[in-house]
Amino acid sequence: MKLFVTGGAGFIGSNFIRYWLKNHPEDKVINMDELTYAGHMSSTKDFADNPNYKFIKGNICDGELVEKVMENVDKVVHFAAESHVDRSVIDPLVFVKTNVSGTATLLDAALKNQVKRFHHVSTDEVFGQLGKDDPPFDENTPYKPRTPYAASKAASDHLVQSYFETYSLPVTITNCSNNFGPYQDIEKLIPRFVTNLLHGEKVPLMGKGENIRDWLFVEDHCRAIELVLQKGEVGQTYCVGGEEKTNLEVVKKILQILGKDESQIEYVEHRLGHDFRYAINSTKIEQLGWRPEHDFAKWLEQTVKWYEDNRWWWEPLLSDRPVVDREAQTSYRQ
Ligand SMILES: NC(=O)c1ccc[n+]([C@@H]2O[C@H](COP(=O)([O-])OP(=O)(O)OC[C@H]3O[C@@H](n4cnc5c(N)ncnc54)[C@H](O)[C@@H]3O)[C@@H](O)[C@H]2O)c1
Repeated sequence: MKLFVTGGAGFIGSNFIRYWLKNHPEDKVINMDELTYAGHMSSTKDFADNPNYKFIKGNICDGELVEKVMENVDKVVHFAAESHVDRSVIDPLVFVKTNVSGTATLLDAALKNQVKRFHHVSTDEVFGQLGKDDPPFDENTPYKPRTPYAASKAASDHLVQSYFETYSLPVTITNCSNNFGPYQDIEKLIPRFVTNLLHGEKVPLMGKGENIRDWLFVEDHCRAIELVLQKGEVGQTYCVGGEEKTNLEVVKKILQILGKDESQIEYVEHRLGHDFRYAINSTKIEQLGWRPEHDFAKWLEQTVKWYEDNRWWWEPLLSDRPVVDREAQTSYRQ
């Protein structure tokens, strides 16, 4: 099989390609990535020389290129996106361009090339926020995005679904909760906290750390996508989630792993539109045969260890950012 992956130099995309090449050594994988500030060739270093792997630098909004690359492709797995919520508050239009127009461009090319599956990787943030006692999100939860990031992902989900309804393009969607694991950019919550502490800096925690997120180890997300590609029903959406934790619980656990105390926490203002709680009911994909295999406590430890052992990967990112990005580095996805 020939798989076309978009955004494979990013966090989840690079973990997915690594996972796929290992578990499907007979398949060919093409990775197309624009290498924005969030795309790192260093994340693909260990598989870059695999003869079944090919990298193409390109933008998903470039219709001509996308149509050509998709020739003879069997399945598409679409990760490429602007993914950082705080940046979407500062600069929403680039999110509309990449996440909405880029997805539409890919869908059009997929239709012209008659791909056998277009899998769209989306987020639980399209559903908005939950109160403390609300039931978790599931596939029937109405869309109610509250940030430009979430709204752009919601729009892309609707476009994907419309290509199924209108043109019978064989699509599937996964709406996943917060991922953690190796190769996640240092602007996101867990890597931000860990790398700050490894550099002797404090960790910025919004509010009192009361906001709740659902956390899933990235390899479990990759396995969920694999299963949906193999056994998912076209036209269907699958919600994928892990364990609920308050941000304070997450930070305390990281402090404990690194042998630091709570004086390292710096309490900061909530960002605009800060969603209170996300939680996922994964029953539908569990019925397909998926379950998370990595528990939060153990794999958070492994993740912290990965950042301790792989400074070569993240330390260059500290100085590699233009000014606007350095400002964004003081914030993170919570
Ligand atoms: N990280 C999470 O916790 C999470 C949770 C649920 C869903 N998702 C979704 O999963 C996908 C991947 O997320 P991530 O955390 O790996 O993101 P990321 O920001 O780490 O990676 C995004 C990648 O897309 C590339 N890219 C951006 N714009 C592009 C364009 N116009 N053309 C081609 N490539 C482009 C970047 O260079 C980067 O390599 C996104 O669609 C995101 O919405 C992420």
